[in-house]
Amino acid sequence: MISFLDKAVLQFDRALQTLVPNAAKATRPSPAEKLEEADLDPNERKHSSGLMRINHTGEVCAQALYAGQATTAKLAAVRKEMEHAADEEIDHLVWCEQRLYDLGSKPSMLNPLFYGASFVIGAGAGLISDKLSLGFVAATEDQVCIHLQKHMATLPTQDEKSKAVLAQMHIDEARHKAMALEAGGYEFPQPIMAIMTQLSKVMTTTTYRI
Ligand SMILES: [Fe+2]
Ligand SMILES: [Fe+2]
Repeated sequence: MISFLDKAVLQFDRALQTLVPNAAKATRPSPAEKLEEADLDPNERKHSSGLMRINHTGEVCAQALYAGQATTAKLAAVRKEMEHAADEEIDHLVWCEQRLYDLGSKPSMLNPLFYGASFVIGAGAGLISDKLSLGFVAATEDQVCIHLQKHMATLPTQDEKSKAVLAQMHIDEARHKAMALEAGGYEFPQPIMAIMTQLSKVMTTTTYRI
């Protein structure tokens, strides 16, 4: 049996992997790799960086949500799928981080805060039920898909590298959402989704800048 201390050490390691620069390793190469770096003026670079910083923090939140629920939820039937999804989120995290550095920028300073908050939400939902836990995954992925679509439409047109990263993420996130719903996750009613949209606005408006 895994002791509480072992679990705590594993969790700490996972948090560090998410929050320390260059600590995580992707299993798939970045979709941006084969594309040419675009010529961006300072304003365009700032905008691309802001959007990629938001997406990076979104992936930090995803890691924390999965980590939180893994400590409390049973999820026996979908454990494999959840682990596979979490691996794909690490790819996303690494791709966004790499893209930020290529743009001459860096991840948000607020990431530890968002990690902590998302971990608590994930663990709390997992304590209540697997259905709620999976519902949170579906709702979060839904929010992420909306951001990704918006960002793909507003990135500087010549920034093909950032767009390629977001396009692959969108494919993966839509699949994660479908998996969570198929596994029995609650489809949250509109008022709850509206609250989640407000919460995600706090994240996006702050991390665009810092
Ligand atoms: Fe992701
Ligand atoms: Fe995802």
